[in-house]
Amino acid sequence: MVKRYIKNFIDYIKHKGGVTHLKINQIHSEKMLEGKNIVVTGGTSGIGYEIAKKAIDLGANVLITGRNIDKLEEVKKELKCDIVQWDISKVDLVKEKVEEIVKRMNENIDCFINNAGIYMPLQYNNCNVDDWNEIMDTNLGGLYFATREIITQCFEKMKRGNIIMVASIEGIRGMDGPYGVSKANVIHLTHSLAKKMIDKKIRVNAIAPGVTCSNINHFDDKGNLYSQSLQGKRILSAKEIADVAMFLISNSSKCITGQILTCDNGETLL
Ligand SMILES: NC(=O)c1ccc[n+]([C@@H]2O[C@H](COP(=O)([O-])OP(=O)(O)OC[C@H]3O[C@@H](n4cnc5c(N)ncnc54)[C@H](OP(=O)(O)O)[C@@H]3O)[C@@H](O)[C@H]2O)c1
Repeated sequence: MVKRYIKNFIDYIKHKGGVTHLKINQIHSEKMLEGKNIVVTGGTSGIGYEIAKKAIDLGANVLITGRNIDKLEEVKKELKCDIVQWDISKVDLVKEKVEEIVKRMNENIDCFINNAGIYMPLQYNNCNVDDWNEIMDTNLGGLYFATREIITQCFEKMKRGNIIMVASIEGIRGMDGPYGVSKANVIHLTHSLAKKMIDKKIRVNAIAPGVTCSNINHFDDKGNLYSQSLQGKRILSAKEIADVAMFLISNSSKCITGQILTCDNGETLL
């Protein structure tokens, strides 16, 4: 330790400036997330469930959230993860729910995954104010304040952190219904917050999935995934999206921030 300080000091004088050392991480698949503490909002089904399952397989401790307590208890039993019942659309409750989660994780969270979300096939001309509010409060308002709380209550104190947003290609290619507007704003937030968080060593990235099997669209990845209307001619599996999340959670991606990893089989390519 003392030796390292002396070497750093000599380097500092020699190079007339700061000292930067790099610890290179390489992928060791089975141990990729060993000892990491991860929170996944909306971890009871679909993409969030697959992320939680895979992270546990790779050695992480995981806490998931969701509204439905029966679903939470079922996944807790199956995956041996921790659970917190939390309706993220109740924006007034966000602060106390994050407090509860931070306490449960012993103030030590490596990665917070903003995954909970809802979809309604609406456009600007058939969406009413209640639909708008429900989608915005869930996909954007809850995510926005949860992100702020996890930064201030945990990551700023730890002097590091990792946030992953689950956005959507509908936020990239443009969709005038509230779902597309909510996801476009998630992408905007990812870019702007990532820049602000660089000095705090907190990274912020997003995954933007294309059409993926889950409860949201009632597709099942055990069935026929063919789809004529998609560029790649098939629907994605939530397991594929979870794989990309593993990379973003892991230290192998620690030089990546402010990026939107589009997982859509080329759907949004021009
Ligand atoms: N599937 C796709 O094609 C697709 C494409 C692009 C992006 N996405 C995004 O991926 C994310 C996950 O969706 P999914 O496709 O995996 O759908 P899903 O299977 O329906 O999962 C949604 C999860 O979010 C939870 N959730 C919903 N509303 C919530 C709320 N108000 N508070 C807390 N938890 C809530 C659900 O649990 P409870 O019901 O128990 O609350 C569930 O665990 C969403 O953000 C979605 O927009 C999905």
